[in-house]
Order: sequence, then C-alpha cells, then structure tokens
Amino acid sequence: MSSNAPSRQILVTSALPYANGSIHLGHMLEYIQTDIWVRFQKLRGHQAVYVCADDAHGSAIMLRAEKEGITSEQLIDNVKREHSTDFADFLVDFDNFHSTHSEENRELSSLIYERLKDAGHISTRSVTQYFDPEKEMFLADRFIKGTCPKCAAEDQYGDNCEKCGATYEPTELKDPRSAISGATPVLKDSKHFFFRLQDFSDMLKQWTRSGTLQEAVANKIAEWLDSGLHEWDISRDAPYFGFEIPGEPGKYFYVWLDAPIGYMASFKNLCARRPELSFDAFWNADSSAELYHFIGKDIVNFHTLFWPAMLEGAGFRKPTAVNVHGYLTVNGQKMSKSRGTFIKARTYLDHLSPEYLRYYYAAKLGRGVEDLDLNLEDFVQKVNSDLVGKVVNIASRCAGFIHKGNAGVMVDANPAPELTAAFTAGAPLIADAYEKRDFSRAMREIMGLADKANAWIADKAPWSLNKQEGKQDEVQAICSLGVNLFRQLVIFLKPVLPHLAADAEAFLNVAPLRWDDHQTLLANHQLNAFKPLMARIEPAKIDAMIEASKEDLAAANEAPVAAGNGELSKEPLEAEIKFDTFAAVDLRIALIEKAEFVEGADKLLRLSLDIGDAKRNVFSGIKSAYPDPSKLEGRLTLYVANLAPRKMKFGVSEGMVLAAGPGGEEIFLLSPDAGAKPGQRVK
Ligand code: MSP
Ligand code: ZN
Repeated sequence: MSSNAPSRQILVTSALPYANGSIHLGHMLEYIQTDIWVRFQKLRGHQAVYVCADDAHGSAIMLRAEKEGITSEQLIDNVKREHSTDFADFLVDFDNFHSTHSEENRELSSLIYERLKDAGHISTRSVTQYFDPEKEMFLADRFIKGTCPKCAAEDQYGDNCEKCGATYEPTELKDPRSAISGATPVLKDSKHFFFRLQDFSDMLKQWTRSGTLQEAVANKIAEWLDSGLHEWDISRDAPYFGFEIPGEPGKYFYVWLDAPIGYMASFKNLCARRPELSFDAFWNADSSAELYHFIGKDIVNFHTLFWPAMLEGAGFRKPTAVNVHGYLTVNGQKMSKSRGTFIKARTYLDHLSPEYLRYYYAAKLGRGVEDLDLNLEDFVQKVNSDLVGKVVNIASRCAGFIHKGNAGVMVDANPAPELTAAFTAGAPLIADAYEKRDFSRAMREIMGLADKANAWIADKAPWSLNKQEGKQDEVQAICSLGVNLFRQLVIFLKPVLPHLAADAEAFLNVAPLRWDDHQTLLANHQLNAFKPLMARIEPAKIDAMIEASKEDLAAANEAPVAAGNGELSKEPLEAEIKFDTFAAVDLRIALIEKAEFVEGADKLLRLSLDIGDAKRNVFSGIKSAYPDPSKLEGRLTLYVANLAPRKMKFGVSEGMVLAAGPGGEEIFLLSPDAGAKPGQRVK
C-alpha cells in the first residue's frame, strides 16, 4: 500500500480464553497469529483495533471457585491478571483485554436477547435433564459419570465413552452418578429458552459461501447446514455463574450466548477511552468497517453459525471473515503433561524469549486449518539459523566497520542496485502474504532476501578490503548498504519481532519504522552504538523448560491439599470398611526384576517380580505410561499378593501392582521409601 491509499477500519479479535486455567503454548498459537496480523495492519497505516477478554462465565468456573474457597468474581479477577501479564510478556498487543463478566456485556447480551425475542427468534419448552439432588443443580453431560451402555466400561462421561467411542444420551448411562457430589442424579423438568437458529438457514448458506471462510471450513459447515439446523438451548438454571435472563428469575444465559457478545463488549469498553472510535460505526448493520475473528478449529460452529445468526437477528453487522487455525502439537504429538510438553506460557517465558516462539509460529503458519507442530529441535535450529545467523548477522558484520572507519556515519552510496531492486520487488509479495495470513510464505520471502544480502556481503568481503590500502570508501559503501538491507528486513519482520525492531530502531537511530519506510535508504546518517540484538537459543534452556513443565504437573498433583483439584469428585471415596477387611489384603514390597512387552497385547506389560522368597508373574495394564519398560527394571513397588490368580490369553497373572492416575500417560506406579525390602508386608 502506498501511504495515500485509503486507510481501512479493521476490528480484530482472538477467541476469549476461559477464565479457569492458565494460558499454554497451544493458546499462544492463536494470540501470536492474530497479533502479527494486527501489527502488520497497523504498520501499514490502517486503523486496526485488537480486542479480547476473558470468558468468565459457566459452571466450570463456578465449581472451581467453590473448590478454591473463593468467589467466582475473585477467581476471574486473579485469572485475568495472570492472563494479561502472560499476553503482554508474549508481546501480544491488545488494544483492550476485558471480561465477559462486565456491565457492557450484560447490557449488550440483554439487548441482543430482547431484539431476538421481539423478532420471534426465541422459543421456550420444557427439558428433562439429570439433576444432582445433593448439589441442587442440573448436570451438564460432562458432570455425569457412569457405565457405558454399549461396552459396559465403567467411569465414562455422560455423552460419550472413551473406551469404545460410543455416543449416547446421559439417560442411557448405567449407574449414573454426579461427578460433583457422587450422588445418584434424578430426572427433573425445567423450562429452557432456545434461539431458533433454523430461522437463519438461508442467510447462513449464503454467508458461509461468500468468501468469509476458508474452503475446508465452509465445506464442514455445509454438512451441518445440509442436515438441517435446530434450535439452540441458550439457558441454564441457577446455580450458574453468568447473566440472569431479563425478566426470567433463576434462568441464566448459557456461557456461549454471551461469550461472543464479549467481543462487542470489549470494543464498547475501549470506545469509552478512545473517542476516535465509534461503536456504531463498527457494529451497525451498514458498517463499512471490517471485522475478523481468529479462532481454533474446535469452536467453528459457534462462530460461523450461531454468532452470525445472532448478529443478523439483532440487527448488527456480520463478520467479514472468520479465520480458523489448527491445533498445536509438540514434537509431533498432542501436548502431554507427563512428557513435559504441556508448556504453560509462563513456563516458556521463564526460560526463553517470546520472539523465538513468535518467529517459529510465523514460519510455520499458513492459511490452512492443519495442525501445527512445534518440534523443539527444529525450533532451536530454525531460530538460530534464520534470526541470529541470517538477519542479525548482517548488522553485526557491518556496524563495526562504519563505527571504526567513518565515526558511525552511513555514506550515500548504493553499490548493488540489483540487490536493492530485489528488496523493493519483494516487499509487495511479503505484504500480500501477511495480508492473506500466509506467514510462512512471508518468512520464506524475507529469509530469501536475507540470504541474498549475506551472500553479497560475503562476496564483497569488507573484512578483507578493510585491510587493503585505499579501499576504505568501498568498505563504507558496502557496509552502509548492508545496514540499509538489515533495516529493510527489520521492517518486514516488525509484525513478528517488535522487540527486535525497537532495539534495531535504537541502533539505527530512527523513529519507529513504518511499512513504507522500506522504499527509502538511509544516507549520510549517524548510527548509534551496536549492541547484540538477539542471542542464540541454548538447547539446555529447552531441557530446563521441559523439566519445569513436568514440575508444574507435580505441583498440580499436590494441589488437593492446598486447594482441591477435583480428584475426589472424579472418583468419590468408597464406603467405609472395617480394619479386618483391609487386613485381608496382603500387600507386599516387590522388586521388578524384568519388565517386557507382551506380544499381541496393546496395553499390557509382563512384570517378573521378586517378593523376597518367591517370584511372581504379573500382567499389568500400564504400558501406555511406560513405553520403555526396561526403565522399570530394578525398582520397588507395591504388590497385592493374595489376589486369586487370573488366567489371561497370554498366561496367568498372579496378583497386581499398584498405581494411581486415570490411565493413558497418566499412570503412576507406587514406590516405597528407600530401605524397603522385597517381601516386606505393607500395613
Ligand atoms: N472460551 C472459549 C472461546 C470463546 S470465544 C467467544 C474457548 N476458550 S479456550 O481457552 O478453550 O480456547 C481459546 C482459543 O485457544 C480457542 O480458539 C482454541 O481453539 C485455542 N486453543 C486452545 N488450545 C489450543 C491448542 N492446543 N492449539 C491451538 N489452539 C488452541 O474455547
Ligand atoms: Zn463404551
């Protein structure tokens, strides 16, 4: 864009993070992606506004606050403070970070609801649902557990079985119980409010195919649209942490009703501080401003069906586009607490600079919805080679000669017009890639230019010329151009690396760079002293971060003492027993002599145990947590010695070893303190 092109008005949002947990590197993918795009628009001179908020409502937040012994308001205040610092330290530059539990949101939610109701888009009917008689609340599916009606697996959630994959109604579960109190739930009727999404079917069919969505997303949505839309339950009964529905005591808006309205509310809150912004200009049905939502692939239906329908029904404008990204994996796998790859934003920041991750995400983010892998080895390699080895290297190679040979003044010379022409030609390609969120293409273009600049400087070898008589003018011309090319790379990278850009601006002795500044070269210009702009990532820092993430997990497991972590509600205590019943269980210390895979068994390890004066053979379903069984060999554990032997396909299992945890990667084999001997009774 040239500076006289009209400036666009652009409102941008990222999804509102739930106020009941910490921000992790998966979330950061979204906030970094959005921030880069917004910074690019601002750098180009557009009026871009980036708003977000904490998503503060819902029963999960209410229950967590209860467990911690604080009010929901206190919990969301604490979390908001934590989230805000995490984002700020990752250089995510929101114009406003608000909360859905705000006056603006209450008013807008009521307004939208009233307008939908007046237009006939709200209906009511009675719904029969499980109710926890002890806790006196209706139970969402995930708060009901029981036995799978299809495969009889115990301890499954109210809507699907993790064992066999079946989906069902909570009422189909056998032996249902409340995951909150352990009580047996009862069926109870209650009046619910519904938003008639089907009234917007034609509008949505058209809107979702009008360039608002990525093709893959539009195709997915088309499946839903074709199978017919249904009314959407937007009410929840007290107790609930949220907004009461106007005129309906005891009925609350479901969290997903007021969450997207939180985008508007955050903007409205900002307008009160920024008089140049007009709420109506951005949100009226005839608004000429652009509106973009960045979201992950898991919340597409809320943003591409419910939200545009609500906006339309209430007489507001609809989004210009909804930009969907995939999920983050780490080292090719789902983030895992036990592997230490479930990395919180804060744990990362304790060890590494935010710009490393911003660059790596940028280098891998395209326009698609595919998952993105943070491969930690590749991360170190790419950041070190691109940012330190290519970009910063140009400045550090050239600055010294200008300071020593010409008192830090860049000369007026362009000894490589073909190179500056390549940079000028590259700029619109890079801008186009940024605009289309094809950041990986933008980074490739930029690094291609950096390669060209480095090759040219290496070829000119000012360090050799500097030693020759009468070559000083040439050295100054080469190094001045080198610094100019570095300056252009900094402009191109500024949306991704705002700190590096600020430090470079200080060294270059220039005002904050704007996109169009790439069209000019500095000449007869005084530089400031050069300070190293970016250090290499030391791989040891990565190891330390992984270790610290494992410690986060350990700390979370200790939490029940401090605050309660929900384990007891997930698995309520068994009925009381007499001591004799306990004493009937013969527990012994066992030494694991051998641990090996069992051919044809997915979940089992064969353990050969030494229990003092005898050996035992046990098949144990712990393989998922101990992928390298040899690591178990030589350690002590607890063993139930008097269980009746069990004949299995693979042989006889004599008793069992003891472990905690829900399963999968989270199985924790028990160990005695040092000094215990095989065969000793545990009592
Ligand atoms: N509160 C809702 C959003 C309401 S928007 C009106 C929510 N919150 S969330 O905290 O679970 O997620 C916030 C955003 O982070 C979502 O867009 C989600 O897709 C994204 N991500 C959460 N985990 C992620 C990964 N592991 N990888 C990539 N994005 C992830 O959903
Ligand atoms: Zn099942």
